[in-house]
Amino acid sequence: MRLLVSSKFFCMKTLPSGEEGFVLTLSSELLLKDHPLSQASFALGMLDPRLMKSSHHISSWLKSEGESPFHIAHGKNAWELTSQDAEFNDIFNQAMESDSRFVTSLLVTNNVFKGLLEGIESLIDVGGGNGATAKAISEAFPWLKCSVLDLPQVVGGLQKNCSNVNFVVGDMFEAIPHADVILLKWILHDWSDTDCIKILKRCKEAIPNKNQGGKVIIIDIVVDPQIDNYKGFDDAQLLLDMEMMSVTSEGQERTKQEWENIFTIAGFSDYIIHPILGLRSAIALHP
Ligand SMILES: C[S@@+](CC[C@H](N)C(=O)[O-])C[C@H]1O[C@@H](n2cnc3c(N)ncnc32)[C@H](O)[C@@H]1O
Repeated sequence: MRLLVSSKFFCMKTLPSGEEGFVLTLSSELLLKDHPLSQASFALGMLDPRLMKSSHHISSWLKSEGESPFHIAHGKNAWELTSQDAEFNDIFNQAMESDSRFVTSLLVTNNVFKGLLEGIESLIDVGGGNGATAKAISEAFPWLKCSVLDLPQVVGGLQKNCSNVNFVVGDMFEAIPHADVILLKWILHDWSDTDCIKILKRCKEAIPNKNQGGKVIIIDIVVDPQIDNYKGFDDAQLLLDMEMMSVTSEGQERTKQEWENIFTIAGFSDYIIHPILGLRSAIALHP
């Protein structure tokens, strides 16, 4: 309990009886499973032994410079594991769903985000998991035609339970259905620069030009390159950078300059970073 108090998951309080007690803080309230914005599934997902196992292989990965630590631990990448291990697939998708509920609760009421969707008729959430983000956007902006593209183990079979979002099984490296706006939430940080450029080129083929409202909205971290100047959310950003190093193949959190390099090579003309989501930003990218 001392550790949990010092890390602000509990605080101490003198109870009416005069005894010292422990009470929940904002952080631990978010771990209650029936809190409307509960992060319990996210915490359980990130602490799942199958994800944690890869961190034990960072040292052998550094020495071998071969496959990712996750691949060394499991003999396959994370998406191959989700396709073969139904329990891990469920835990991972629920983790992403709880993050999406939290993030979209901030997004759909944000004026900058509302502005990005002005005059837009269709949106596709690429790698959109089980559709929590697309469903929240569709409820908040009912005139928008919303779709989700993801792998078969994630979206196969979801259509029958949902009328306002269209689920598409596919591979974002192959083809992305046409839409005015493509959303990439927590996608590009999973991939190398080369893979991000491939995904962004597929996105560019799927959207109309800038004058017709075509854009990609990326929700990801923009890391400050001044590493001796960190404050605020930076610890969480750097821990996520380590997580990407350990569970993905060449994924990483990127600085503004690193983002700009891949946008330029993928053929996009301009971008605006909107730091509206705490440790993450919404980056609007125009063809
Ligand atoms: C880190 S999760 C993010 C999920 C969701 N966007 C969110 O933020 O909650 C990455 C997603 O990309 C999907 N994905 C991985 N490879 C893919 C591919 N080749 N084509 C489409 N989706 C893919 C995964 O199945 C997973 O749902």
